[in-house]
Amino acid sequence: MGEITVSGGKNTSVAVIPATLLCDEPCTIENLPDINDVHVLIEILKLLGCKVEYIPGKHLIVDPREATGYTVPYQLSNQLRASYYLWGALLGRCCRAEVGYPGGCTIGSRPFDQHLKGFAALGAEIEDRGGMVNAKAEQLIGGDIFFDVVTVGGTINVMLAAAKAEGTTVIYNAAKEPHIVDLANFLNSMGARVRGAGTDVIRIRGVRRLHGCTYAVIPDQIETGTLMIAAAATRGDVTIHGCIPTHMEALTAKLLEMGVAVTENDDSIRVRPRGDQRAVNIKTQVYPGFPTDLQQPMTALLCMAKGTSTVCETIFEQRFKYLDELRRMGAKFKLVDNTALIEGVSELYGAPVTVTDLRAGAALVVAGLMAKGVTEIYETSYIDRGYERIEEKLRMLGADIRREPI
Ligand code: EPZ
Repeated sequence: MGEITVSGGKNTSVAVIPATLLCDEPCTIENLPDINDVHVLIEILKLLGCKVEYIPGKHLIVDPREATGYTVPYQLSNQLRASYYLWGALLGRCCRAEVGYPGGCTIGSRPFDQHLKGFAALGAEIEDRGGMVNAKAEQLIGGDIFFDVVTVGGTINVMLAAAKAEGTTVIYNAAKEPHIVDLANFLNSMGARVRGAGTDVIRIRGVRRLHGCTYAVIPDQIETGTLMIAAAATRGDVTIHGCIPTHMEALTAKLLEMGVAVTENDDSIRVRPRGDQRAVNIKTQVYPGFPTDLQQPMTALLCMAKGTSTVCETIFEQRFKYLDELRRMGAKFKLVDNTALIEGVSELYGAPVTVTDLRAGAALVVAGLMAKGVTEIYETSYIDRGYERIEEKLRMLGADIRREPI
């Protein structure tokens, strides 16, 4: 029996922190997870000239009033994917942005053509050369953007650029993830006029000024899901507090289909074992479908389900690299194009394994919790980018997991 409280959302925090650059007064952000991506973005704000007070676990106060910078070097931008939100935030703030290419998990080609298409629709001139994106405009003018693909990053970046543009911007085929809604709520808390977030049409009426506010980001949907999967993996009776059950519906439905007992309350979810765990079929989709970020930990769980499961990854073209690491632990699977066929086994065995990206790290932790013997997980810095002290949380739930210096 274990109880745990989920941290603030990584993917919402990495959008809200750059958005503070749009404010004309100091603003305070609460419930930020104490993770590396947050730390790097705070360094970038300081580099741009913002006054920052950051107390991990308490708040981040950003005063952007004297910030004059608009350049972010590649050495900083390539440390995370979300550095590309500085394009939209700096364009929205000062109509100038010179930011190095983003980094982030190598789970596919991850182009950003739709982001640049959105900026151009607002009147920005874009130069994409030498690993840098330089964007500038006399004045951003609201316009209509129809995304060719549903893109979380592209939707967020256009929201940031459009918040203070002249006139109205309409984003068609917008992403609907919870962190898109959270960013809209933050912008509106500062006086922006964003409507329709959470649907596939978002309307933004530009405003001249944004006033300060205090804003707490939503809990992490993917950490909540990872903890739910870890509970099922260890057949523990676990209650996750401080989460938003409606954000978890696609995963909850699949765990129930597997035969795991899941009970929802207002802001908590309880996961309990209930006999054998059956194989299921997963297809990742944009929200509210099954999240691609939970594909990897879920696949680890399915390695010991009864029967053969299929996991179809429709969002990213290279998000199965971690399967080779699971094979070292005894997992049985076949990869056919972008679908993994997983044959459930009765045992997984501990082994030394290496993390290839953030959510692959989560998958290896889940597999290690299920395996007989000790699993040594290397390159854990990937995990620390997106999970706040994951081993402490799992230990509180009874897991035998510890971090050792190598
Ligand atoms: C965000 O990545 C998240 N990262 C990812 O989480 C998440 O997996 C992804 O959204 C989908 O939910 C952050 O929020 C920092 P996309 P992003 O733009 O914005 C294609 C994690 O583990 N595309 O929605 O990069 C793209 O190639 C990370 O927390 C274009 O073709 O995702 C992909 O196939 C991993 N052109 C698809 O769209 C573009 O201009 C979805 O990408 C943009 C995207």
